Amino acid sequence: MPIDLRTRLGHVELPNPVLTASGCAGSGRELAQYFDVAKIGAVVTKSVMLAPRAGRPTPRMAETPSGMLNSIGLQGPGIDAFLQRDLPWLLSRGARAVVSIAGGTVGEFAELADRLSDASGVTAVEVNISCPNVEHRGQVFACDPDASAEVIEAVRGRLRYDVPVFAKLSPDVTDIVTIARACVEAGADGLSLINTLLGMAIDTVTMRPVLAGVTGGLSGPAIRPVAVRCIWQVREALPDVPIIGMGGIRTGRDALEFILAGAAMVSIGTTIFHDPSACVRILRELEEELASRGVERLTDIIGLAHEPHPAPGRRLSRSSL
Ligand code: DHB
Repeated sequence: MPIDLRTRLGHVELPNPVLTASGCAGSGRELAQYFDVAKIGAVVTKSVMLAPRAGRPTPRMAETPSGMLNSIGLQGPGIDAFLQRDLPWLLSRGARAVVSIAGGTVGEFAELADRLSDASGVTAVEVNISCPNVEHRGQVFACDPDASAEVIEAVRGRLRYDVPVFAKLSPDVTDIVTIARACVEAGADGLSLINTLLGMAIDTVTMRPVLAGVTGGLSGPAIRPVAVRCIWQVREALPDVPIIGMGGIRTGRDALEFILAGAAMVSIGTTIFHDPSACVRILRELEEELASRGVERLTDIIGLAHEPHPAPGRRLSRSSL
């Protein structure tokens, strides 16, 4: 019997839980030469802003121990080109598109939601309220519950159809549950956990910052335990809210860890840069991990790690397993 990998992105069902992570797969086109983009749960597109943006000067990326720093500066084509070119391409391939949006003001987010309402075929909207690279460094929405809620409320209010809205949160906060709760109360259907951590590296030869943008977002396996902790805490507080988990997932076993912590879906990011077909590999590996544990349905094990430890001799505690 094949394993039932279906999972829910709000009120929308996905055939499987493996997604790309925003920013790591553009709009999916580059990945199509490696695998059929319709085969994964969804393609999460690079955060799009209202206007086209050239991004920051180079260097924009740096390797760190088990991780990567980047400061791209939200380079992108802007919403018009995205809607005319990128979204139709994804849909023509039969892929499900989760569109990530980013803005510098609440009004910009609202305008993006309005523009997205003109397009059909958007599976969900991921609201990037935690980008550490926007110009006004003091205005990281995701660091403040009121600012986060304002953005989500504005997006929800301007979307003219009932598409799931996911808020992507930053781990760089004292209490991520407070932010998560504010977003859900403001109308988010789900949460994406986690965005990059703000980091920095200095070149000891030039004795200057490595990145032209000085600081950058840290991603990759180095941040995986932070992501698992955030997902755990939010799942504990808001058990009914669907979570897309991301942060350093490299294998099917890593994906399983996120699902056990409470993620209903996982996004694959940094690993794509050295293994462009990672999403389909991880999907296959996850299926193997589930099969070897006798799991028949993915939904049976979402958040399972929160349940009391099973008695000796019983590996899993849910009666359905
Ligand atoms: C950008 C970089 C990130 O690490 C992130 O989380 C969001 C945006 C960027 O510079 O484009």
